[in-house]
Amino acid sequence: MSRLVGIGATARPRRLSRWMATLTNRIQRVTAADAKAVHQLRLQVFANARDFTVAAPENLVWSERDSGDIVLAVWHGADPVSTMRGSVLKNSDEAKAEFECSVPASVKFPALLLARGATRGDFQGIGLNSALRYHFLSFTVGTRIQSIVGVVNVGAPRTRVMARLGYEFYLPNMSWGSSLKHNNGVMVAALDYSRIINACSLLERETRQVLAAYPWQGETPRFNV
Ligand SMILES: CC(C)(COP(=O)(O)OP(=O)(O)OC[C@H]1O[C@@H](n2cnc3c(N)ncnc32)[C@H](O)[C@@H]1OP(=O)(O)O)[C@@H](O)C(=O)NCCC(=O)NCCS
Repeated sequence: MSRLVGIGATARPRRLSRWMATLTNRIQRVTAADAKAVHQLRLQVFANARDFTVAAPENLVWSERDSGDIVLAVWHGADPVSTMRGSVLKNSDEAKAEFECSVPASVKFPALLLARGATRGDFQGIGLNSALRYHFLSFTVGTRIQSIVGVVNVGAPRTRVMARLGYEFYLPNMSWGSSLKHNNGVMVAALDYSRIINACSLLERETRQVLAAYPWQGETPRFNV
């Protein structure tokens, strides 16, 4: 009897706190357990994107690649409302294969590629993508990462904030993109590591309210570089 009471007394609050954690607004690394919700968010947001059409939706499904990389999400209660994936690219050849376009010689490696950015329509324009970028940039401080890279559509949302952070934009000489069909062409965006500290300070200032409303939860992820 006392054993049963003992189990109940400790197990119930632990289950309750686990359940309550799923209702808390937060930013967290995505695990395979949340994979379905996150890939549904990607599919839904990308299907409605105004800058491109998705030619290969199967590429957005959660894969082993996602488990090996670092995927973050902003959780509003039980729902992921914004996500971004960070992957380490060792060299220019890996970048070319990822970007499906030529890569400027000035971009330094190893680089952190930020991709698969998707924010649910009713949460766009309030700084969630910037808050995820803030966390990714801060994870690179003190590592061997030399630059932060990405591919963006000409004139797309978040490009002005990226320019303020010090990203440089390059129009590629060649592009053979097949997974996304871009409406206005693409640019390679690169932020040199020498600008990381300033970029982090600026993002921290600009997203202060979001970072307070969606605090980081969990251990700091480490890049494999
Ligand atoms: C691109 C995308 C991920 C951006 O996500 P987001 O969470 O809306 O991004 P943010 O809110 O951080 O920034 C968007 C803009 O809002 C501005 N903003 C952020 N917080 C703000 C605030 N409190 N008040 C006013 N403006 C604000 C940012 O400065 C940025 O401005 P910019 O477009 O002039 O640079 C989102 O639009 C999306 O999912 N689009 C469809 C899919 C897509 O294109 N994905 C990218 C391909 S990988």
